[in-house]
Amino acid sequence: MYIYDEYDRRIQGQRVTQFRAQMERYLDGQLEEAEFLPLRLQNGLYVQRLAPMLRICVPYGLMNSRQLRKMAHITRTYDKGYCHISTRQNIQLNWPQLEEVPDILEELLEVEMHCNQTSGNCIRNTTTDQFAGVATDELVDPRPYCELIRQWSTFHPEFAFLPRKFKIAVSATQEDRAAIRVHDIGLQIVRNDAGDLGFSVFVGGGLGRTPVIGSLINEFVPEQHLLTYLEAILRIYNQFGRRDNKFKARIKILVRAMTPEVFAEKVEQEWQHLRDGSATLTQAEIDRAHSYFTEPAYEPLDDAAAQAELDRLAGDNKAFSNWLKRNVRDHKKPGYAAVNLSLKPTGIAPGDITDRQLEIIADLADDFSFGEVRTTHEQNMVLADVRKSDLFDLWQKAKAAGFATPNIGTLTDIICCPGGDFCSLANAKSIPIAEAIQRQFEDLDYLYDLGDIDLNISGCMNACGHHHVGHIGILGVDKKGEEFYQVTLGGNSSNDASLGKVIGPSFTAEDMPSVVQKIIDVYVEQRTEEEPFIDTVNRLGIAPFKERVYAKAS
Ligand code: HEM
Ligand code: SF4
Repeated sequence: MYIYDEYDRRIQGQRVTQFRAQMERYLDGQLEEAEFLPLRLQNGLYVQRLAPMLRICVPYGLMNSRQLRKMAHITRTYDKGYCHISTRQNIQLNWPQLEEVPDILEELLEVEMHCNQTSGNCIRNTTTDQFAGVATDELVDPRPYCELIRQWSTFHPEFAFLPRKFKIAVSATQEDRAAIRVHDIGLQIVRNDAGDLGFSVFVGGGLGRTPVIGSLINEFVPEQHLLTYLEAILRIYNQFGRRDNKFKARIKILVRAMTPEVFAEKVEQEWQHLRDGSATLTQAEIDRAHSYFTEPAYEPLDDAAAQAELDRLAGDNKAFSNWLKRNVRDHKKPGYAAVNLSLKPTGIAPGDITDRQLEIIADLADDFSFGEVRTTHEQNMVLADVRKSDLFDLWQKAKAAGFATPNIGTLTDIICCPGGDFCSLANAKSIPIAEAIQRQFEDLDYLYDLGDIDLNISGCMNACGHHHVGHIGILGVDKKGEEFYQVTLGGNSSNDASLGKVIGPSFTAEDMPSVVQKIIDVYVEQRTEEEPFIDTVNRLGIAPFKERVYAKAS
């Protein structure tokens, strides 16, 4: 994982000192609001409705137990005792005191964490599959490439003031678990016919006010050219991206205006100047990035014996069996498994985690998973390297701490932004909507029968909750000062990425559980055997759902 070297330590230390002085000048009135703005954004600090919000970077979602314990301490000391896992695998503090932010940054420094580039118009945290490195279906571990991108992009002078923020995601599996097609740049790691490693490059995806699915502009960029090619894309964007209108400044607008073909040509031309230049990756450099991700000390284990014992325990215990089926995944090493810790029990804001839970996860990571944990873009956490023989023990402990809800991938595993409860930009609340829907679907057997369904909620157009790519998407809208909710169907963030279609006029908060129920009823009535929700929606279109939802009560 990302480890500070002497340069990082020095630069990050200087940065905290510098920010402390900037904060003091701001609080003294020596710096105007407008002068302070870029300075605070460079350090992940937003100013919010009820309190500032601080976004802490978690490179590609990887953390160690020391960092978790520090987060617990920070949330307890400087916040309200909980924090929030975001869809960019980062961690957000929703209630810090402005004047204490330099102290928080200093505490983070002690555990090699920071808030660099978590806001502002720069390259943000590069995200990836939460099962990277342990997935049975991956071509290679994508994290070394995320790390190369991180090192290249952090403090890159040319890309510190882009027209708008910029997000990159990397996937190394057939099934896209990193939503690469809704990123400014999505990288799919592939091998060509000659067996060489490289990247298929998607550009111009994104959600927000103008949702767009990214376009494939190059099917194969050889591994060594990763950074030079990215640099070419960023240069074209930096040069031609609009700066006159914030809402038209993202690369997706540029790619659409130019057409993906013309954009690709321009990148190709620019690349000719950069290709084979100083940013070309040497094998030594690639090996160095790989060296950050050495395998933990896996033991040779008897997979068959461990599995037999698991089956026996699961046979005796339905709750454990449910958890195994829903929250536990295969692992590339025999005798090991990857475990999802659900941060979505009913009644808790999706993605919220308390100081005590952070400490418990730190202990679990130490006891069961080589001291490491990952955050996921679905706002959960993962222990990636658990011995199968430890699963029962882990389950009991996770259950006692409240994160063994066996709902991963189901309708109640909702992605949800903070909405009107914390966010000054919200049109409507989102957390209570998530909770009401979770209550409506509390019966686990019913939930399992429904299978995989992505339900995503955002409190406004900015789409922090990824509502456009939820199979069911819910968007908070404001109508004459009142909160309403618009529903979309058919969104998908995976391989066949698509944007949901609005089914019609919006609903009140009270309507929402029954609206979702009616949509689900149509699915249950119309599905063919084994057909997942999204396939039924794609096959039928939105009409039958719309009809049911808007039918007059007779
Ligand atoms: C309360 C604090 C928050 C504020 C003020 C905020 C603000 C914003 C704004 C203004 C945008 C729109 C950018 C644009 O596309 O032009 C945005 C996008 C986004 N936010 Fe938030 N957000 C907040 C919390 C969150 C949380 C909690 C999450 C994760 C659950 C999140 C994840 C995202 C993501 C993934 C996008 C990108 C959508 C895209 O692809 O363009 N944000 N946020
Ligand atoms: S979608 Fe809107 S309401 Fe939700 S966090 Fe983002 S900016 Fe705030």
